Amino acid sequence: MSNIIATQKIHEQYGGVVPELASRAHIEKIVSVVDAAIKQSGYSLAELDAIAFTQAPGLIGALLVGAQYAKSLALALDKPLIAVHHMQAHVLANLLQDPAPSFPFLCLTVSGGHTQIVHCVSPTEMKIIGQTIDDAAGEAFDKTAKILGLPYPGGPLIDKYAKDGKAIYKFSEPKIDGLDFSFSGLKTSILYFLNNAGASNVYKVEYTATAEERQKFIDENLANICASVQERIISILLNKLKKAVLQTGITRVCIAGGVSANSGLRQSLKDIGEKNGWQTYIPPLEFCTDNAGMIAITAYYKYLANDFVGMDITPSANGSF
Ligand code: KG4
Ligand code: ZN
Repeated sequence: MSNIIATQKIHEQYGGVVPELASRAHIEKIVSVVDAAIKQSGYSLAELDAIAFTQAPGLIGALLVGAQYAKSLALALDKPLIAVHHMQAHVLANLLQDPAPSFPFLCLTVSGGHTQIVHCVSPTEMKIIGQTIDDAAGEAFDKTAKILGLPYPGGPLIDKYAKDGKAIYKFSEPKIDGLDFSFSGLKTSILYFLNNAGASNVYKVEYTATAEERQKFIDENLANICASVQERIISILLNKLKKAVLQTGITRVCIAGGVSANSGLRQSLKDIGEKNGWQTYIPPLEFCTDNAGMIAITAYYKYLANDFVGMDITPSANGSF
């Protein structure tokens, strides 16, 4: 009925999210965001069936603000309280589209903090069958952007510049067994590649480029560098997804999380699906990056399953499902 998103611009100048500033911004904005959401929905607070909030994982300060506000609201309105797992919610954002995938399906969840292949049996039953052993896909985008001198979060900017470039630089794909991912090696090879001004992406103790040559190379080749990095991140993700489909025999495939907003990933998943006879599902952009709609749809299924929590519930920075 409504999906209000408050973006925090304050972090851009720091090159990443500053936890203390994030908590403070949550305190400042939560009342007006809830008010706006209620107004847009056309319902009153009294008409709601339950109050849901994100319980884990995330920055503990931000989670505490949401949990405390949700508890207060539930107590004041005498409504049941529902705790939602952020990563489970990213997956279930796929159920907000029409047609929605039927179960079972596989979901590649790619965000700023997570990279997972999830085997979903039902809205309340899902299992992680592959995940990153170091950086998340979103981090690979953001850290590359930082190396290139672009502001945070760099993912959307790399996507934008990649559209005008060609993937002419070949960064190697990590050799990780099974369905797990690794992105830290890619970041390092991009760094060496730039420190040698594109002469080589092989590790060299002595850099061949001066700071000026490095910057000149970036300025003149930004679009091609972005296209090359993006293509490699996408191929790492989709090769593992292909493996997961073969392993499970499940051909209904979804994507979720902030990186699923990437235009290259969206197109490549569509292409690979058509080629291999998969049924692919890609959420609308507003349900890819963090949003309230995904928390609400997850809460809806928990409500149907009578899965409520008491006032003693506490948020958790980690916590898996
Ligand atoms: O799911 P999300 O909004 O927040 C987390 O739960 O982390 O994901 C944020 C991540 C950031 O790393 C951001 O750079 C990335 O999603 N992202 C993108 C794009 N839009 C957001 N990465 C690549 N291309 C995009 N278009
Ligand atoms: Zn997220």
